[in-house]
Amino acid sequence: MVHPLSRGKDRDSFEKEKLTPPSSLLLSQTDTHTSSNSLYLKMEKILITGGAGYIGSHTAVTLVEAGYLPIIVDDFSNSDKSVLNGLKTILNQEVPYYEGDCNDRALMKRLFTEHSLKGVIHFAANKAVGESTAVPLKYYRNNVGSLVVLLETMAEFGVTDLVFSSSCTVYGQPDELPVKETTPRKDAESPYGNTKKICEDILVDVTKSAAGTRIISLRYFNPIGAHPSALIGELPLGVPANLIPFVTQTGVGIREKLTVFGNDYDTPDGTCVRDYIHVLDLADAHLKALEYLTDKPGSFYDLFNVGTGNGNTVLEVIQAFEKVSGKALNYQIGPRRPGDVEKVWADTSKISEKLGWTPKHSLEDALRDSWNWQLALAKK
Ligand SMILES: NC(=O)c1ccc[n+]([C@@H]2O[C@H](COP(=O)([O-])OP(=O)(O)OC[C@H]3O[C@@H](n4cnc5c(N)ncnc54)[C@H](O)[C@@H]3O)[C@@H](O)[C@H]2O)c1
Repeated sequence: MVHPLSRGKDRDSFEKEKLTPPSSLLLSQTDTHTSSNSLYLKMEKILITGGAGYIGSHTAVTLVEAGYLPIIVDDFSNSDKSVLNGLKTILNQEVPYYEGDCNDRALMKRLFTEHSLKGVIHFAANKAVGESTAVPLKYYRNNVGSLVVLLETMAEFGVTDLVFSSSCTVYGQPDELPVKETTPRKDAESPYGNTKKICEDILVDVTKSAAGTRIISLRYFNPIGAHPSALIGELPLGVPANLIPFVTQTGVGIREKLTVFGNDYDTPDGTCVRDYIHVLDLADAHLKALEYLTDKPGSFYDLFNVGTGNGNTVLEVIQAFEKVSGKALNYQIGPRRPGDVEKVWADTSKISEKLGWTPKHSLEDALRDSWNWQLALAKK
């Protein structure tokens, strides 16, 4: 389906043009938590679990721009309803949402009854590695349990297509770099990492058993950045566990200083290496994955790395941040943090060849967008 909204807009054109759906595509929406405002008619609907979260909200934008209607379900356990306002301003239109837990079968049934879904993207999960070690059952119940409920509901309603959020954490410290999809997974370092491995295994089993189920797991490397409008971005609750929110919070003065965990690793400057991928490029990978599934025969499973193919050290990230923000970052070198992988970056040839996906944003683009998002948050 060709949609009138333009795709792949750069940051400048976003500023210049407003996304306005033509009135012929509007319908009145009463079955979800939207106002009496109108919504897009005849657009294929994609359920986004965890759609109010960091990656889900950016994927909602990408889907609308590509002509789909995302339906969000989120319990707001790790997000804020203000995200929905951000989406509304970016899209000039509300995105319908259901407030609730994906483990709630009755809710999921209601949702699948009320909407004819083309497919599902399953983001909803808990993702704090440290917390998962302290309360593993919370992670197994939510991350594994919600996938099972979702798959059972999809089977009941004949919805076949699913894109699942996995993680490069399944590789641990890989024996080969860059990491290919065929690189063996390692024992998980945390219950969180283990839930991703278990979920991947469940998906393989399901595609082997249930005719017609078409599933892709995307193994994300390190998502960073924000929408260039600075209306949505990462919203870490409490002290951020990831580098970039810590960097931007230090830059804006919320944190006094950033500690770099170790500078004696076997890397160019001794600090850990990661593959940082702009969240909008990641969102685009979900779109490409969904569309790739469309013409696949029944019972299909595949998995793809989603990264840039480049690794950057922590000190390179700090230098790039200082360049784009014009701020000198207050940081110190501390001891290694237990459980940190020394270096990991993706081989992206498979996703590039099969899905036709390549990242469009640089590290600097992503850091600029993260910084502008942080500045916008500071004004709130
Ligand atoms: N951000 C990363 O660095 C990263 C890396 C690899 C994989 N992932 C995976 O990507 C997915 C999305 O990550 P994110 O960074 O957007 O996280 P996020 O916490 O910002 O988004 C997840 C959303 O899911 C919601 N949620 C959680 N459990 C739910 C439930 N049972 N029912 C309904 N809603 C629920 C939360 O409120 C939140 O809005 C997760 O599965 C995560 O494990 C993230």
